[in-house]
Amino acid sequence: MHMRTVYVNGDYLPETEAKVSIFDRGFLMADGVYEVTSVLDGKLIDFDGHAVRLQRSLDELDMKNPITKDDLLEVHRELVRLNGIEEGMIYLQITRGAPDDRDFAFPDPETVPCTVVLFTQNKPGLAANPVAQKGIKVISIEDIRWGRRDIKTVQLLYPSMGKMMAKAAGVDDAWMVQDGFVTEGTSNNAYIVKDGKIITRPKTNDILHGITRAAVLRFAEEAQMTVEERNFTIEEAQDADEAFITSASTFVMPVVEIDGAQIGDGKPGSVAPRLREIYLEESRKVAI
Ligand code: PDD
Repeated sequence: MHMRTVYVNGDYLPETEAKVSIFDRGFLMADGVYEVTSVLDGKLIDFDGHAVRLQRSLDELDMKNPITKDDLLEVHRELVRLNGIEEGMIYLQITRGAPDDRDFAFPDPETVPCTVVLFTQNKPGLAANPVAQKGIKVISIEDIRWGRRDIKTVQLLYPSMGKMMAKAAGVDDAWMVQDGFVTEGTSNNAYIVKDGKIITRPKTNDILHGITRAAVLRFAEEAQMTVEERNFTIEEAQDADEAFITSASTFVMPVVEIDGAQIGDGKPGSVAPRLREIYLEESRKVAI
């Protein structure tokens, strides 16, 4: 693969030269937050939404934001430029930095600055992803993550295990279930459609407040579709007309099978593909 230029604490470096301390709390404690912003036509999709959520994640964890929003935008754009990204993603991670030893207590933010890392992921064809034509299959797994899933932390071990469980079952992803109700996908928000209504779990600490979710629900309402924010079960999902997921890397992606049960006729319906089209079109218009 082409050698990327990445960003670490103020420096643009070849990916092989970029280094972080072994005492970094992101490495030792998963004490860090992240964002994934998609790039289409060489421009950032919903940068503002991601910057606002990043600040909220940092605030919730008492982490001092080391970089202004303007500078962050500048770094995103510079990485897109340096790496020639037309379609893909920018990954951003901020950790509580590297004190000089391992310790559960947070270090003093005045003496230990946060670590900031950004890198690009080149994904030509991200928007024209052929998978969206046929949809994905999911299994359900128990949601055993911690209680603050609204904070976008780098504690991704269970979601990674969920992807592996999906892979072992011969499907694409897993929907997590808590007390009988679907929370979200391993790295995306989950929806069903019944009688023209779009149903998705409300924003609480149980799920990540997706930036794509917010945009898609807004576009759905603008297109006179009904949105119902409430909990739903796997059984209800299996009986729905359609199902789909949203995220910065998949946009809107139809789900055509849940735990072996076909949704509708097993092909993407009309609502999810239409929302995907609207989302891509409208987001491109306001990309920066
Ligand atoms: N994941 N829920 C979870 C648990 C997520 O990890 C994500 C994003 C979402 C969707 O959020 P957004 O629409 O803001 O991307 C929901 C990113 C893409 C990832 O981990 O790669």
